[in-house]
Amino acid sequence: MVSRIIPVDPFDLVVFGGTGDLAQRKILPGLYRRFWAGQMPAEARIIGAARSELDDAGYRAMVRAAIEEHVAPAKREPEQIDAFLEHIRYVAVDARGEGGWKELAALVRPDVIHAFYFSVGPSLFGDLAERIHAHGIAGPHCRIVVEKPFGHDLASAKALNATLAQHFDETQIYRIDHYLGKETVQNLMAVRFGNILFEPLWNAQYVDHIQITVAETVGVGGRGDYYDKSGAMRDMVQNHLMQLLCLIAMEPPHRFDPDAVRDEKLKVIRALDPVEPADLVRGQYGPGDGLAGYLEDAGQDESDTESFIAMKVHVSNWRWKNTPFYLRTGKRLRARKSEIAVVFKDPPHSIFGEQEDRRGNVLVIRLQPNEGMNLRVTIKEPGPGGMRLVEVPLDMSFADALGPEAADIPDAYERLIMDVIRGNQTLFMRGDEVEAAWAWTDPLIASWTGRGDRPKRYDPGGAGPEESAMLLHREGRRWREIKE
Ligand code: BG6
Repeated sequence: MVSRIIPVDPFDLVVFGGTGDLAQRKILPGLYRRFWAGQMPAEARIIGAARSELDDAGYRAMVRAAIEEHVAPAKREPEQIDAFLEHIRYVAVDARGEGGWKELAALVRPDVIHAFYFSVGPSLFGDLAERIHAHGIAGPHCRIVVEKPFGHDLASAKALNATLAQHFDETQIYRIDHYLGKETVQNLMAVRFGNILFEPLWNAQYVDHIQITVAETVGVGGRGDYYDKSGAMRDMVQNHLMQLLCLIAMEPPHRFDPDAVRDEKLKVIRALDPVEPADLVRGQYGPGDGLAGYLEDAGQDESDTESFIAMKVHVSNWRWKNTPFYLRTGKRLRARKSEIAVVFKDPPHSIFGEQEDRRGNVLVIRLQPNEGMNLRVTIKEPGPGGMRLVEVPLDMSFADALGPEAADIPDAYERLIMDVIRGNQTLFMRGDEVEAAWAWTDPLIASWTGRGDRPKRYDPGGAGPEESAMLLHREGRRWREIKE
């Protein structure tokens, strides 16, 4: 495969929360990897900004440690790391006061792209936006990047949008959902709209149902305070799973252009029916396998927060009428696996007579691990014995199909940060999309809270509560297995 890395334009990227966990785990190592790949121009600068009183040297030492911890050894060449660190600066800034702002404003070059990454809690968004504006660094070349959670409900998301809108135009606001930066998520659009093969079948007439699974093996340890106020619905469904659902269900946009894509996604969210209580299962992991349970991990004596959720969702439009979308996500499950499975209907008539245990065509799009696609097709079992049918996978892992370079897929954050610099908002959520997602989510949460619904306990290392399997069994369907 030929490498097509094109350096981006010169930029200044200011990372507020530059000493924090996300900066160290994802943002800085990701930027280093882009530098290593040759995508960062010589004039690029990354400016860490946080409260700690550090100088450039102190911050560079921190960045070096982050690279050493989070970048694969093959890319950790000492000369490359030294060269990357030359791009790094640091300013101690007080988000709620005046400290450091003059120094920061003097450093940021107004005539090159300058992006401000708000890798801080949403309570600081307003303060930061106001000060960026007051210090004259919010010009036309300015962009801001904000992280999830974008609000806790519709009211808080609206308030955040309004705060940002006071100082920035929507075209300057990049709301990150890192699932949109995953390679296979974009491939989903390429597969759907770059081939004639799938799109004619992509509707209620031919698709029996769709499963979207994001399973994790990790628990909530270390993030209990945040997680217990969110739960799987706010932490994963309202953003990541809904984005996947939108990309699977949306109509073809007229162009692969930010607003055309986002308009189509928004229509899907607006077409979602409310979820019936009987179509929703919430779970909470118990202790087991030598691991603590949710309550201990989250540091709570009691909690009704769900660490697992499964639901049946309907998209009420012409294309999808009566084709259910089953979504599930959870922590402490058997394997780390994210995939979308499009399960097609059986042929209308079998010319081969009844065959036991036949299962129809399924297109599986694997997001992680081992990004790729798999199409299950029916063939004749080889050898004598008549016309016996079997299902075999047409399996494609990107690494096998495109060579080892393709296995070296950039992390979602790397891709998204480069998109910010390029000014491409296609993979970022627009304000109205986020609000529509909350408008659908809020009544659901209110309904189970109002009913006093308690999450079902499930054992770690499995597929979540039994009731989740029942959700499909009762309709003669079954979840795909959670295994790597
Ligand atoms: C985050 C959630 O947005 O996504 C986490 O807050 C979750 O709870 C994570 O673990 C999953 O991301 P990934 O890329 O590891 O699938």
